[in-house]
This record gives sequence, C-alpha cells and structure tokens, in this order.
Amino acid sequence: MTGASARQNLAGKRILLIVGGGVAAYKSLELVRRLRERGAFTRVVMTQSAKKFVAELSFAAVAGSPVHHDLFDAAAEGEMGHIGLSREADLVVVAPATANLVARAALGLADDLATTLLLATDKRVLFAPAMNLRMWLHPATQRNVATLGSDGAVFVGPEKGEMACGEFGPGRMSEPLDIVAAIGSALAEDTGLPLPGAGGAGGLAGRRVVVTSGPTHEPIDPVRFIANRSSGKQGHAIAAAAARAGARVTLISGPVNIADPPGVETRHVVTAREMLAAVEEALPADIFVAAAAVADWRVEAAAEKIKKTGAPPSLTLVENPDILATVAARDRDRPAIVVGFAAETGELLRRAREKFLRKGCDMLVANDVTSGVFGADENTVHIVTAEGVEDWPRLDKEAVAERLAGRLVEILAQQRNGKSP
Ligand code: C5P
Repeated sequence: MTGASARQNLAGKRILLIVGGGVAAYKSLELVRRLRERGAFTRVVMTQSAKKFVAELSFAAVAGSPVHHDLFDAAAEGEMGHIGLSREADLVVVAPATANLVARAALGLADDLATTLLLATDKRVLFAPAMNLRMWLHPATQRNVATLGSDGAVFVGPEKGEMACGEFGPGRMSEPLDIVAAIGSALAEDTGLPLPGAGGAGGLAGRRVVVTSGPTHEPIDPVRFIANRSSGKQGHAIAAAAARAGARVTLISGPVNIADPPGVETRHVVTAREMLAAVEEALPADIFVAAAAVADWRVEAAAEKIKKTGAPPSLTLVENPDILATVAARDRDRPAIVVGFAAETGELLRRAREKFLRKGCDMLVANDVTSGVFGADENTVHIVTAEGVEDWPRLDKEAVAERLAGRLVEILAQQRNGKSP
C-alpha cells in the first residue's frame, strides 16, 4: 500500500478519530500512536459501545488529550462545540467502522456524538471497516458503503483474514500502518474526490475499480529476470482518473519508476502470479482494467545464480496465468466491465478484435507500440467493444485515462438501462 513502509510526514495534520465498538478498537490505539509519531494531532471520539472494548483512559493517554463521547457534555460544548470538533480537523477517520456505524452514517443519523460529527463535517471521511464477513458482504452494508462513497467518503480495507469470530474472509480492519498510508493519500491535496456537500460526486462515485499497471518481472535466478518495456504511465493514469471520478480504486502495480497515484490504494507486486493473487484479493469490483504488460511466460527460477561456465543455459518457459481472461471468466462476481489492453506491432485492429473475443472482455484498448508508446507521455488508441471500433486521436496518457473513465461511466449507465456496452 502507498507509503506503508516509508514513514509519512503528517506534521501539523489534525485528525479526528471516531472509534466504533468492535474488537478491532484496540488496533486504533496503535493507529493514534503511529499518527502521533508522524507529527499528527489526534482528537478521539468514542461511541458508547467502543468503550466496552477499550478504556477511554487508554485513548486519552496515547492521544495526549481527553476523549470525547457525549453529545450533551456542557463542559466540552463550552470549550469546543461538536460542530467545531468536526470542522477543525483536516480529516475524519472512522476506525473501526462497524456495520452499525456505517449504516447510521449512510442514513445521516445524528443520534450520538460520533454520527453528529459525521453529519456536521465538511472534511473528507475515511472509513476503516471491521465486522464479521457476512455483515460486510450483506447487500445492506454494501449499499451503505456505496452511498457513503458517492457522498465522497473513502475506505481502507477491510482485509481478508481470520476473524475474531473464527470465520475467514473480508472483514478484518486494515493494519494501523495501512490506515496511516490511506490517511496520507486522503490528505493529499489533489485527490480530486468530491468533499461532503461539495455539490455532486463524480460519475464513478461508490464504484470499486481495480487496475493493473506496469510490467511484471519473472526471475531467472536470484539476480536476473525477464521483463518488458512497460512504464506503468497509462495504467497509473487510469487509476488516478477513476479516483478523480469518485471510484474507490485499487491499483496493482508491477515494478515501475513512477509514483503511486494520489487517492488510490496501490499494491506492489513483482511477478504475474503475484499480480493475479493481488487482483483476486482486491475483487469484487465493478470495473477491472488490465493495463499491465504481464509477462506471458516465466522460467522455473534457479535457486542460485546461474554460473557462466560451460555452454549457455537454455531457459524453459512456462505459461503464466492470463489475469485478464481469468477475471473475465469469473462466473459469480465478475466485474460489470472488464477492460483489456492490446499492444501490437502489426495488424493492430485485426489482432485487437481477435483478442477482444478470446479474452472475454467488454472493451479492449488497442495501441500500436511500433510508434514508441512505452515510456512515452502520449498514446494513440483504438477502443474495441461489441459495437465496433472507435479511433481516438493522439492524446497524452492522462487525457486517454480521463476519456476512458468517461466511457466507463457511460457504459455503466447503459448497463443500468439494460443496454449492452
Ligand atoms: O495476450 P496479450 O498479452 O497481448 O493481452 C494483453 C492484455 O491481456 C492486457 O490487458 C494484459 O494486461 C492482459 N494480460 C493479462 N495476463 C497475462 C497476459 C496478458 O492480464 N498473462
């Protein structure tokens, strides 16, 4: 995840942390500690049920300031009204965000201090959900998450794993350092996401988008690998454009030399098999964009560096999993739109159409790589769908991404109205 390893500087940032009532509440103590280490100032609000899991004094001690919990606390109201509490923050973080708290926030209830603050704030709200996996997967919770997303909220997690109740699946709260990284992204000035009350969300608000980008590296031995020339610029630009359009985006990036895009949860992988595993972990999603140049083959890697003595070694290539085709063939939770890319050096449109059919995607973005697309800032693409081919003019990769996000919004609208893309 973005910056989870590098220590982010959050000096002077004011975080309002709302702690919900879940077993994961103890992890929020660590979150406050990590925020403090990075120079952030945290005010803590606990719900009544949060106090059943962690003592108020523990939060007061790590935050270095009293905990707020009472909507009708005259003393606190005199010192700083509840509206002030939500306005003076740079970011509001709800961790753990229980199913109940998510539901109350989505409904716009103001029946305790936590929900009143969520309703009164004019700042971005970041939710770190934590709940039983059935509760997370329940259509009611998913509806509530989509509603909050379209109101401009962002989410980190939940992660898959063993739950306190013994079940396994999505529902665990993200680790404190991952939440810190998501806080850094949410605070970035140029996320382009709508703020609460900022007048309308983007066309992908409430949608989940997963994007692959960059090359994969397939090791030959501990020092050598097979790679390709993909820079990741186009895939990263698409992830950023989808986030600007309001989507919750996970970018699965191979090894690249460009920065993680703002407002996007980025996971770094090396090989095709790692990329597939990360994509499957990030699903379900509404849209999957396979912009990565995945190595078609890998080598059974040698455990030790291959020596130069004797005849040159011959490499036996093994086929890698096709991530795009695998996702397009999912029967249960196939994304509503699956987008593939085709980089060709000849017979572009014929091969692109053939690939469109073979991979089972809904849209294929074809580019002629003879004209130096790799690493360049511009791209000439052709969009293949079941309806035919659209030729786009030469555009910079940001503009291609922006236009593509616009087409995805149109296709979702067509699907809602019962028309195929
Ligand atoms: O077959 P080809 O590699 O040309 O297909 C390109 C498209 O398929 C791209 O969208 C790429 O991301 C995807 N792909 C994949 N997994 C592979 C090979 C390609 O997802 N192993």
